[in-house]
Amino acid sequence: MSETKTGQPVRGYRREDPGSRPPYLFPDYLATRLRAPRRPLTLLPHTLTEVTGPLLGEDRVGELDHDLTRQHRGEPHGQRIVVTGRVLDGDGRPVPHTLVEVWQANAAGRYAHEVDRHPAPLDPNFSGVGRCLTDADGGYRFVTVKPGAYPWRNHHNAWRPAHIHFSLFGRAFTQRLVTQMYFPGDPLFDQDPMFNSIPDPAARQRMVARFALDATVPEWALGYRFDIVLRGRDATPTEEEDDDQ
Ligand SMILES: [Fe+2]
Repeated sequence: MSETKTGQPVRGYRREDPGSRPPYLFPDYLATRLRAPRRPLTLLPHTLTEVTGPLLGEDRVGELDHDLTRQHRGEPHGQRIVVTGRVLDGDGRPVPHTLVEVWQANAAGRYAHEVDRHPAPLDPNFSGVGRCLTDADGGYRFVTVKPGAYPWRNHHNAWRPAHIHFSLFGRAFTQRLVTQMYFPGDPLFDQDPMFNSIPDPAARQRMVARFALDATVPEWALGYRFDIVLRGRDATPTEEEDDDQ
């Protein structure tokens, strides 16, 4: 790695297993045909300034930002769920105090977003966005409702499996990673090119949360556990930032 004009490059960044990363061009996922780079990529090494720069702090995270069921006057429709897990680095160490953000469709499969024209009902009590900071053990916890599947016109009768989008900032602002969490046993996996663009079938399974009885709240909410590994052999597959379906 050579030195750049902007500072000393940081050595030793571990690259993830290529089987856990979707290719830029995956023809069955139509949008990649337009946006995949046609020329070789230019590597811009991280410098010390970028890696040691400030992270978003707790002053940006509100008390109820982690609870998507309590951000409005009433409760949203749908199956109430708890989604919890840990953020770990490639060596299995917890990543504390890092910002975890989520966004999702409502229980009917519609986003509260102006470009979502799926004619399913909006829910006035559900915005579908949340965030929290990991604790000292790398743990995070969200309360939300299970998102519905939605059609997305990628191909005839294309439906996205139910999913929650995740963004993580890791140990530095330049380490933002974006991925999706799926639900176990979803019958829509086989026909979803976004899910299947991850080359390694075992890596695909690392995007699927597991039902966790110990994360449920009796007589109130089901629980799912989703651990996120930022780098290394067990890394959670991540995507480019404009993968927003
Ligand atoms: Fe989505």
